[in-house]
Amino acid sequence: MGVAIIGTGSYLPELRLTNKDMEMMVDTSDEWIISRTGIKERRICPKGKGSSDLGYEASLRAIEDAKIKKEEIEFIICATITPDMYFPSTACIIQKKLGLENIPSFDFQAACSGFIYGLEIARGLINGCGYKKGLVIASECMSRLTDYTDRSTCVLLGDGAGASVVSYSEEDGIIDSFLSSNGNYGNLLFTPAGGSLSQSSFETIEKRENFMKMEGSTLFKIAIYSMAEAVEKILERNNLKKENISIVIPHQANLRIISGVAEKLGIPLEKFFINIEKYGNMSASCVPVALDEAVKEGRIKKGDLIVTVAFGAGLTWASNLIRWIK
Ligand code: ACO
Repeated sequence: MGVAIIGTGSYLPELRLTNKDMEMMVDTSDEWIISRTGIKERRICPKGKGSSDLGYEASLRAIEDAKIKKEEIEFIICATITPDMYFPSTACIIQKKLGLENIPSFDFQAACSGFIYGLEIARGLINGCGYKKGLVIASECMSRLTDYTDRSTCVLLGDGAGASVVSYSEEDGIIDSFLSSNGNYGNLLFTPAGGSLSQSSFETIEKRENFMKMEGSTLFKIAIYSMAEAVEKILERNNLKKENISIVIPHQANLRIISGVAEKLGIPLEKFFINIEKYGNMSASCVPVALDEAVKEGRIKKGDLIVTVAFGAGLTWASNLIRWIK
């Protein structure tokens, strides 16, 4: 028995924040943002809504795409660094919205690599624990961690969610995953306050410590190196060549990072699915949203070999090797 993705869905909030809007907020320009990042606009989750709302909508679409009844879902796992609240988990809140009961649901986080980690967790739940079908969700409201006075980060981030229904299958769909991390680089990308170490207070808010901080240019180099490594490793241990890959679904942090990975690997950029111009960096949601769009746009066909790849805070980096069996 294998494990495969049998349905995909995504949800992007309607509100758009364009580069022209950003020009009115910080000292930047449409030209700078496009040429340095490839981003034209991002989506913003409205006030009063959170990651569970986006994740719920993406889940409904994935369930519909899988052509199953929602009652067939036996577990819900959600990758997010922007949960609705500390607890209950966003996965449990989505479970309630879906009207499902008495199944395991939990959140986990590996930042931008979260969905890729999630597919492997789902593979383990199905192969090792006997579950038949589950939802792997990534949902992020990165706007909530964004300092809109810091031009070096605020132009990059956006909100959105993606989900996949993962099922036992006669054919092997999720063939392998490469997962890695190195906590020594944690200081390159983090949110100083708002956790148990430094509770939110007037002081942390005044110092803007509840927002994401990042060393962009160092991360840029590590991202190219680690994403290329994740692709190379997964191909190597499955005795595959780069030419065997039909499409790469990369994390969408910066178009120049994706180009750098393509160049380092010697894989044509045309094989990378790119939608960064529309959404920016939505952390864990980038990969499942891109996967869903690639499928719906006809870029992925039955039998195709897909490699997903991402890097993110932690630092984490990861890849999945997937055969598309739908
Ligand atoms: N508009 C105009 N100028 C800007 C902007 C902006 N929005 N942002 C930075 N600059 C300026 C800098 O101040 C600097 O000016 P200076 O030379 O006068 O000091 C100049 O542009 C060059 O800055 P760099 O940081 O060297 O620019 P770079 O080409 O590296 O691009 C960027 C910056 C886009 C952040 C890039 O480094 C990057 O994408 N890094 C990786 C980011 C990333 O992927 N982070 C992790 C994802 S987030 C997550 O996981 C949740």
